[in-house]
Amino acid sequence: MQKIYYLLICFVVSFFIFSSYILASEVFVYKNPNCGCCDKWVKHLEEHGFTVKSQNASNLSSIKEKLGISKELSSCHTAVVEGYVIEGHVPAEDVKRLLTERSEIRGLSVPEMPIGSPGMEQGNKKEKYDVIAVSRDGSTFVYSSYNDK
Ligand code: CU
Ligand code: CU
Repeated sequence: MQKIYYLLICFVVSFFIFSSYILASEVFVYKNPNCGCCDKWVKHLEEHGFTVKSQNASNLSSIKEKLGISKELSSCHTAVVEGYVIEGHVPAEDVKRLLTERSEIRGLSVPEMPIGSPGMEQGNKKEKYDVIAVSRDGSTFVYSSYNDK
């Protein structure tokens, strides 16, 4: 019987450590001051438990370049979380998965601004889009797909 209690305590403790770890992730966002969708994306992250700090940036393209985000992968805002780059309207779900799996990649991107991605809602309209993983060597692969019918 004692063993069961012990296991239960271990489980509860590790659950709290794990969840606080995810919730403690602070995202730093460089955003486009002329783009309301950036603020909407920040809100989306906050609603999913992230702490977000943001700053308007006029030199976004040089920030993207420095962080290894090519023109083809570019969107509006650029964020950094725990050493990963998050470009554009990436769903919080994918950011959480990245932080849980600790993938050996540079980061994630949703290029351009697909309608229906978090922060880009327009009624019921939903475009198909992919979340692209950017490897450290700059190569890319599809991380997840949305609105695929
Ligand atoms: Cu945007
Ligand atoms: Cu934005």
